[in-house]
Amino acid sequence: MHTLVIDHPLVAHKMSRLRREQTSSATFRLLTEELVTLLAYEATRGLEVGEVAITTPVSPTTGREMSEPLPLVVPILRAGLGMLNGMVRLMPTAEVGFLGLVRDEESLIASIYADRLPADIDNRQVFVLDPMLATGGTLIAAIDILLDRGAKDVTAICLLAAPEGLARLEKAYGDRAENVTLVIAGLDERLNEKGYIVPGLGDAGDRLYGTV
Ligand code: URA
Repeated sequence: MHTLVIDHPLVAHKMSRLRREQTSSATFRLLTEELVTLLAYEATRGLEVGEVAITTPVSPTTGREMSEPLPLVVPILRAGLGMLNGMVRLMPTAEVGFLGLVRDEESLIASIYADRLPADIDNRQVFVLDPMLATGGTLIAAIDILLDRGAKDVTAICLLAAPEGLARLEKAYGDRAENVTLVIAGLDERLNEKGYIVPGLGDAGDRLYGTV
């Protein structure tokens, strides 16, 4: 697995605004979209493009454009939905699929409750959106589903990660540097006893959708 922590002043500024408890849901949604667009720029560095013949107003030439099969963007319900606009703004022709995962509070095992992925994801480059990498259980379940169904590579874009979740991901995909990439805006201190990232930003879904 390849991990990329985006160290950029604009990302740092927007993350600080996002974390503040006074930030309204409307501003939280806007900041999330802006942050994802910034992260997506780095996360798409390995995107495959093929040569195409084009004509400019001046002369014919060769351009490079996204090739088929087009990349797939998969927000994890519910909080990942808040990241979708920021991602498709940069890649409007990408296809979008959805995954809903719920964690059993006793066994801590994540299971699927909604699967709206395209039937054929063989050889596709996939971008998974989930704002908070806490224990890692949900993200690992999602990445496993995508790799099992034939995804060529999976890039997970998260806003924040806890060291505990990052360690679990590294253990699961440590030997798959070419298949799995994690892009994050920040690595926080730890998880608290309730499973929240510290200092974090609280419950991302609640903050996005105003249910705090
Ligand atoms: N999910 C969240 O929304 N926030 C956390 O801090 C951890 C998991």
